[in-house]
Amino acid sequence: MTKLGINIDHIATIRQARKTNEPDPVEAAFIAEKNGADQITIHLREDRRHIQDRDLRILRQTIQTKLNLEMAPTSEMIAIAKSVHPDSVTLVPEKREEITTEGGLNLDIENLEEKINELKSAGIKVSLFINPDTEIIKNGKKLDADAIEIHTGYFANAESEKDIKNEVERIKNAARTAKRLELYVAAGHGITYHNVHYLSEISDIQEFNIGHTIISRAVFVGLGLAVKEMKNLISKS
Ligand code: PXP
Repeated sequence: MTKLGINIDHIATIRQARKTNEPDPVEAAFIAEKNGADQITIHLREDRRHIQDRDLRILRQTIQTKLNLEMAPTSEMIAIAKSVHPDSVTLVPEKREEITTEGGLNLDIENLEEKINELKSAGIKVSLFINPDTEIIKNGKKLDADAIEIHTGYFANAESEKDIKNEVERIKNAARTAKRLELYVAAGHGITYHNVHYLSEISDIQEFNIGHTIISRAVFVGLGLAVKEMKNLISKS
């Protein structure tokens, strides 16, 4: 069955708006897991705009499923990952001025292979957040990553039915290529309750990481129900 990772960064975004202690991402992770989440995903950004080091440390101790840490491939983050030991790390590009992650990772980063191996040697699975491009995926395999996460943002931004179909085709081909290369295949970014049906049919995708739409819906129906509804939608595949 396709796995659902819940990205809880936005819970921390609300807390940081007042810099108090509520809402707590630790409580969000607990509720998400109780309602079917297979994984909790958090992005520890260099500027600490939402998730804090304290969240990462406590979540490592409290999460019962899997902890997936999104981070930039910097020396600071690699040291943190090695000390906290999430189940997996998803390497993402990061720019201070961006609102959210834009585009996939550029695999030409200096010493990326070394960095991947450093994390793997510490027993952490490494995933690369990359665009749905078969050449990039082949390069990701050469770097010895365990997994890829296909960037679905271009699909999410497509407006015409023709563009959506093209993007779905790109994602399908990317997923097939990755699976053939024996990479674990995740997908995420911009997926919503309304567009997820295009992707839930792609059998080579093994995991979705979804945040914004679920936390937004949680405001109105509660986090538990919001997670259950999404789990239901991705389970139709
Ligand atoms: N996957 C990755 C690698 C991301 O950077 C993000 C956004 O933090 C997500 C998934 C979740 O995206 P969204 O919040 O649009 O569902």
